[in-house]
Amino acid sequence: MNNRANMVKVAVVGGEGIGPEVTAQSHRILNWFVAKRGEPMTLREAQYGLIPYLATGKVLPEDTAEAMDEADAILWGATGGPETKEVPAAARKAGSLLGLRSRYDLYANLRPVVANAALAGSAPLKPEVLNGVDFVIIRELTSGIYFGEPRGIETLPDGQRRGFNTEQYTTNQIRRVARAAFELARTRRNKVCSVDKANVLETSVVWREEVIALHREEFSDVELTHLYVDNAAMQIVRAPRQFDVMVTGNIFGDILSDCAAMASGSLGMLPSASLGPIDRFGRRKALYEPVHGSAPDIAGKGIANPLGSILSVAMLLRLTLNRSEDADLLEKAVATVLAAGARTADIAEPGAKKLTTTEMGDAVLNALDEVVGKEKEHA
Ligand code: IPM
Ligand code: MG
Repeated sequence: MNNRANMVKVAVVGGEGIGPEVTAQSHRILNWFVAKRGEPMTLREAQYGLIPYLATGKVLPEDTAEAMDEADAILWGATGGPETKEVPAAARKAGSLLGLRSRYDLYANLRPVVANAALAGSAPLKPEVLNGVDFVIIRELTSGIYFGEPRGIETLPDGQRRGFNTEQYTTNQIRRVARAAFELARTRRNKVCSVDKANVLETSVVWREEVIALHREEFSDVELTHLYVDNAAMQIVRAPRQFDVMVTGNIFGDILSDCAAMASGSLGMLPSASLGPIDRFGRRKALYEPVHGSAPDIAGKGIANPLGSILSVAMLLRLTLNRSEDADLLEKAVATVLAAGARTADIAEPGAKKLTTTEMGDAVLNALDEVVGKEKEHA
């Protein structure tokens, strides 16, 4: 029996846009794993965004901050959309997603891209391009141009406005995320492709040199290649099968991971994990979220695809709880429902029946129950 002290704490924060809808389904999945597989975790739900802002004046109220601070893992929904306009910029910035990534030092953002054969008919790329695609983008998440100073908007003497930001990377920032990439590659097909723009940017010159140095010093058994970011974007749609682990900076990773979503069939399918440093007790704070964001155009309609969020739970089971068997089980359940034809609107072939968000959640839970039922029969 697990005592409470050994329990993994999970904060469940749906947030804004379609976030609460999809997170409601992954929350049901988490509950299932606690009830049926004895997962040693406690769940604490908390609110983020406009609703708590109207009640407390903060998008990230004390209770939510506390739930996330104490959590080993945060299951995050989404942030953004038209409702953000109802919150003054300063209040929004104080509790922003970027602020959270920085607060918990979640520097390694893993975005796996796996093509599902069942979605070949609705995917924008040809089946022969998608066949066998299985790679992970590791995006540096706490530095680069999204955080660099100075930044701002100023008015020039001639009355024009000038917006400016600073791209920057230090040795340590580059090496720790590159290390995460090399270590992950060793558990996969042992290949890392580092993406930069070293033909133009000094930050990228440093990036490339540090990646090469770390590789030579500690990871020479891993195959290392380099691509310029413009070429990488093209290669992801031309021949995505060539990649195993791709590592890159914050802005390039933001752009390339949306692009790579098309190599998995739909943005709605993509999970992610953002990992912090490992502390002296071996613990590692993590935030799990679907890549799709708040999708304001379909928010509140109950038609969003919850699979990106549900597959983020699989990453949580694997990376925070070290239960790879259960992660495999959940991924298999998702594959099963897709193979059986379950589709939300974003992944539906013409003429296919479109499930609601909740119905897709039901389908995955049924598939999980079936697997467990079969295990019992065989026991
Ligand atoms: C993502 C999103 C975020 C980002 C936004 C919502 C700030 O696009 O996680 O990719 O740019 O990092
Ligand atoms: Mg993005």
